[in-house]
Amino acid sequence: MIVKVCENYAEMSRMAAEAIAVEMEKKKNFVLGLATGSTPVGTYGNLIEMNKQGRLDFSEVKTFNLDEYCGLYPSHDQSFNYFMYIKLFNYINIKNENVHVPFGMAADYDSWCKGYEDAIAKAGGLDLQLLGMGSNGHIGFNEPSDEFSDITHTVQLTESTIKDNSRFFECADDVPKSAVTMGIGTIMRARKIVMGENGANKAKGVKAMLEGPVTPRMPASYLQNHADVSVFLDKDAASLL
Ligand code: F6R
Repeated sequence: MIVKVCENYAEMSRMAAEAIAVEMEKKKNFVLGLATGSTPVGTYGNLIEMNKQGRLDFSEVKTFNLDEYCGLYPSHDQSFNYFMYIKLFNYINIKNENVHVPFGMAADYDSWCKGYEDAIAKAGGLDLQLLGMGSNGHIGFNEPSDEFSDITHTVQLTESTIKDNSRFFECADDVPKSAVTMGIGTIMRARKIVMGENGANKAKGVKAMLEGPVTPRMPASYLQNHADVSVFLDKDAASLL
């Protein structure tokens, strides 16, 4: 695992984008796993810039997002689908049919989740997965639990995640209580993982992820078992290491 402490959020975002770009330049039909949340917004800004400047071409790239709230249509302004369009997809030359975001309104989630796994496999597997981590250690929406979850599945969100994410909604009651998420196994099968973390509220989680035991109580700790992970931290997120 490579851990790099950056001066600030801007440098963290630049370095995460650079790590992604270097991989994307090796392969035209790259399969890129994406995340939502506050952390990757700066990374997406850098990727947009690289696309504008002609360095990165998304025309043959396929993307798969980590997760989506259950109960929100893709057009809902708090859905992760909507987020991805306003933060990245609207500004790059990606084809709509190559974009995959979990569907939060499936009639049969079990078969929908199986279909998502099949689509990732059919695309050749994830070349790279971009991750953030929740303050409770979740990756995707794999919340701390007693069990390892392998494939894409539905999950009940914890009180701490609902509280963290209520900043995007009018109030905590409006935050959906469940979500569809790639499993820890789906994430771990990505050939490369890039993670960014910033802010003092992530410091405890970062320490547990990098220095604590590997346990489903701290889902991000599984990354210790992955062969190719690059973690970019700002000084606050790295302050307890
Ligand atoms: C988002 C996701 C989550 C976030 C995490 C951190 O698709 O899967 O695991 O990465 O909740 O969110 P921020 O970046 O808002 O701190």
